[in-house]
Amino acid sequence: MAVWPEEKVFKDPVHKYIYVQEPAIWDLINTKEFQRLRRIRQLGASFFTFHGAEHSRFSHSLGVYEIARKIIHQFERNGFSDWPREEGLLCMCAALLHDIGHGPFSHSIETVFGEHHEAWSCRIVQGDTEVNRVLRRIDPSFPDRVAAVICKTYPQEIVVSLVSSQLDADRMDYLLRDAYCTGVNYGMYDLERILRVIRPHRGDIVVKESGMHAVEDYLTSRYQMYWQVYFHPVTRSSEIVLRNIFARAKAIYDAGDGETLPFLPEPLRRLFEGRLDVEHYLALDEALVQAAFSLWANGKDEILSDLCKRFLHRKLFQYATPTRMDEALLERLRESIRREGYDPDYYLQVDFPKDLSYDVYRSGAASRKKPIYLLKHDGGLTEISEVSDIVRSISGTQYGRHRIYVPERILEPGNPYITAETAEWLKGE
Ligand code: NI
Repeated sequence: MAVWPEEKVFKDPVHKYIYVQEPAIWDLINTKEFQRLRRIRQLGASFFTFHGAEHSRFSHSLGVYEIARKIIHQFERNGFSDWPREEGLLCMCAALLHDIGHGPFSHSIETVFGEHHEAWSCRIVQGDTEVNRVLRRIDPSFPDRVAAVICKTYPQEIVVSLVSSQLDADRMDYLLRDAYCTGVNYGMYDLERILRVIRPHRGDIVVKESGMHAVEDYLTSRYQMYWQVYFHPVTRSSEIVLRNIFARAKAIYDAGDGETLPFLPEPLRRLFEGRLDVEHYLALDEALVQAAFSLWANGKDEILSDLCKRFLHRKLFQYATPTRMDEALLERLRESIRREGYDPDYYLQVDFPKDLSYDVYRSGAASRKKPIYLLKHDGGLTEISEVSDIVRSISGTQYGRHRIYVPERILEPGNPYITAETAEWLKGE
């Protein structure tokens, strides 16, 4: 173990300082797997919409660790007997490593290739990696325990809840960090107040009744961030272009037409073949993927080249918001796009932003996610939406409209390939 003279601090724009007091945490931060997170952006392609959104998963992961550390210290300071003190280090390690398996533009890659970042997080923690060696030095069972917390199978539910639930260190950090970096002001909520009102209670985390308004504020921030940042139509457009780049490159590779892919490093080849291992997965970062896009932009395949240029030069798809979905009109639009010379498989996308993982809040039966409980004076528990009108009104909301994404040319007024009826439909209200 390294000599440990004193605590280490990181300067952080959200938490001001991040304190490292355990040698193991310091050693984990210095592993190459954790340092790789500097090369993965936290918000994928959101920087096209909000140019400040260049922050990395590295800074977010440090922030989640810091919030977990503060929560644990608060529990210990107050002497709450329902907190299992011996789980503190495990909880902080899992908080730090919860996103270690994120790849470049994760959400787009996951959709095309079916890779799941949580599964990769566990493989990295349990595989032949520097992270694994640091954890094993703490205790031979530590890698498996950290993996169980990340994959939510750890028997002490309170440890899992602290890292991942509807009121967890992960969300508490990313809301503030994403709001700060995008420059919007609606993601802000009072973290200090939340940290003061949460309590360990019979194996889980609950909120003191008087803290209800702080939680309302946090959930309202989530609600605003989903609709204003995470589901922003321009961000969705860039994700569609990204997905189609990966889908097209894979189709070219599958057709055995490797020559049209002028650059195919081993990690991408293995991704296309569905045989990634930990070593090559770790070599996949946004720098590598964007180098590929730059070279593919000059390749022979016109569709791939065009899509890569759209991504590099921010010539994203435009969108229309029709008032209702109409399959017959959609089919006609597909035909028009084909006549215009575009392959609709890559140049037409219907999008409906309702990702379950992005639910603002779910109260119970409708969800696998555990609800947020308020702890009453008499020791009883109330689910928050039963007493809060605000939370009730934003619970499980999935309003939103279908959007149709196409190249800008298709939506130009007077496009001869688009019938008057289709144009009227695309115009919406
Ligand atoms: Ni996270």
